[in-house]
Amino acid sequence: MEQSVKTPKETSAYGVHALGKKHKLIKRVRKNNPFPEIHGTKVWGSSYLLMDYLENHPIAKGSRVMDLGCGWGALSIYCAKRFKARVTAVDADKHVFAYLAAQASYNRVELKTKRKRFEDLKTGTLAKQSLIIGSDICFWDELTDALYQTIKRARKSGGAKIIIADPGRSPFMKLAKKCRKRLGGELIEYSLEEPVVADGYLLVIG
Ligand SMILES: C[S@@+](CC[C@H](N)C(=O)[O-])C[C@H]1O[C@@H](n2cnc3c(N)ncnc32)[C@H](O)[C@@H]1O
Repeated sequence: MEQSVKTPKETSAYGVHALGKKHKLIKRVRKNNPFPEIHGTKVWGSSYLLMDYLENHPIAKGSRVMDLGCGWGALSIYCAKRFKARVTAVDADKHVFAYLAAQASYNRVELKTKRKRFEDLKTGTLAKQSLIIGSDICFWDELTDALYQTIKRARKSGGAKIIIADPGRSPFMKLAKKCRKRLGGELIEYSLEEPVVADGYLLVIG
C-alpha cells in the first residue's frame, strides 16, 4: 500500500478540503475513537484520479452515487459538493465513519453512510444508484472476486455506471481484466501533476 497523497494538515483540490492525520480535527477524532483497521487511514491518492475524471465527465445534478470502501470520504464529499449528489458512503470498517464525519462537517456536506462489506450490499440497493465509485478498494486477492461479483450484480440489475480508481495493484489489474472480458468497459491509464500528483488507472464500465 505504497501510494499516497501527503496531507500534512490539509489538501485542497477539486473543491474538497481533505484533512490529514496532523490536522487538529483529525487528532481530536483519533483521541476519542479507534483508528481504522482495513487501510482506511487517510485519503488515498487514487481518489484524485476519479475526481479529475468526473470533472471531465460530469454527472447529472442530484444523481444517486454510492462510494464503495469510502474510507475518510473525500470522493463522497466531492460528489456531494460538486454535483449535489445523493451519496451513500459504504465501508466495511466501522472505525472510518468518525473520520468521515469530521471531513464531511469541515466541508459542510451531508452524507449517508452504511457500514457493510460491498459484496454484501443488496442487489436492490445497487440497482438504485446511477453511479458507483470506489478508489483503492481492490488491494487483497480475495477482493478481486468480491468486487467483480458486486459490479456484475450492479450492472445486471440497474445498469449503474461504475468507476474504480487504483494505483495499479495486482488484484485490481486482475479485476480490470475480468470485467473488460465479461462485462465490457475500459481501463484508462491516468496521471495527474496538479492539483495533486497521482498515478494509476481507472476502470470504467457503462
Ligand atoms: C485503501 S482504503 C481507500 C479509502 C478511500 N476510498 C480512499 O481512496 O481514500 C480502502 C477502504 O476500503 C474499505 N474496504 C476494504 N474491504 C472492503 C469491503 N469488502 N467492503 C467495503 N469496504 C471495504 C476499507 O475499510 C478502507 O476504508
